[in-house]
Amino acid sequence: MSSTNPQPQAVVAPITRSAIYIVATLAPSTEQDDKVRALCGNLAALVRSVGHRVSTGHLSCVCGFSDNGWDRLFGNPRPADLHPFREFHAGDRQAPATPGDILFHIRAEQMDLCFELATQIMNQLGDAITVVDEVHGFRYFDMRSMVGFVDGTENPVGQEAADFTLIGDDDPDFAGGSYVLVQKYLHDMDGWNQLPVETQERIIGRTKLSDIELDDSVKPTSSHSSLTTLEDENGDEIKILRDNMPFGKPGSGEFGTYFIGYARKPDPIEQMLENMVIGRPPGNYDRLLDFSRAVTGGLFFVPSAELLEELEERTPDSQSEDTPADAPATTPHNGSLNIGSLKGQ
Ligand code: HEM
Repeated sequence: MSSTNPQPQAVVAPITRSAIYIVATLAPSTEQDDKVRALCGNLAALVRSVGHRVSTGHLSCVCGFSDNGWDRLFGNPRPADLHPFREFHAGDRQAPATPGDILFHIRAEQMDLCFELATQIMNQLGDAITVVDEVHGFRYFDMRSMVGFVDGTENPVGQEAADFTLIGDDDPDFAGGSYVLVQKYLHDMDGWNQLPVETQERIIGRTKLSDIELDDSVKPTSSHSSLTTLEDENGDEIKILRDNMPFGKPGSGEFGTYFIGYARKPDPIEQMLENMVIGRPPGNYDRLLDFSRAVTGGLFFVPSAELLEELEERTPDSQSEDTPADAPATTPHNGSLNIGSLKGQ
């Protein structure tokens, strides 16, 4: 990325102790869409107001729009790689697409900050949206995932994180933006905990206590770490930035992981997911999925901070003349339930 690129949203933000992930659909009627656009212009100010109250709290919020949400709120031009969530299915393994037009990824060192910001955002949006999924995630000891292994170790950091997640000259109108894929997983913890630790370690590809990568001579090609390691045509690794968090309700037997992955294009995250669900080669799938079930799935575009503010003034009708407002809506090519929109009705 060149230094002239617009300032991104807080995609590459510090890993925090708490997070709230909210996915919402737009109201069936477009009447209140202006409220959503107004929030785009006001979100940074809201984060400042709430965050300033606890200076060490590292409050941040990333806001993204799905294919459907973008078309309805802003029309053309649109981010080059924004499309509906690609579903994958094989045997009992599912990566379903579920409804969602807007994503909020709120992070802070303490949950009260996340909670207050989510409350303020919801107050501003009122019934312009319907929240279809809300997950409150927490840090579990030394960054353990719900399945007991340290999560996030191989994340890129610093400039490398920015390079892997922020759009550059490849889509100049959307430079400084990002794509983010989310999935809510529920785990069969009884089944997982019955496995010997050595078996779990071969499934993840790392040691459980000390979080050391298994040697290639013992690490199966079906391990989670192998299947999510990608290389480009030059043999260089392609990384994504994850900020997964555990969540759950022990009293109701709910144990989950909220997966969230950022990248400058959706394909690497989709390729990892395909490797996990279908297998690389097909059949050589991720055994973590024998104990983990994805119950949601969404792909969102995250505009740069500057573009997000400008979106306040943008409507589908305010844009380029070569795309008349009454142009036929594109039909989602897979997965999207197209809920929460007039598009296609
Ligand atoms: C069931 C939900 C999931 C759990 C509990 C989980 C957990 C983990 C753990 C414990 C690690 C090893 C430590 C690390 O480097 O972070 C890891 C690595 C990784 N995971 Fe996941 N993960 C999940 C889903 C996913 C999904 C859906 C993707 C991508 C679509 C993904 C992509 C990755 C990547 C890229 C790595 C780093 C691999 C490497 O470079 O060694 N994970 N995950």
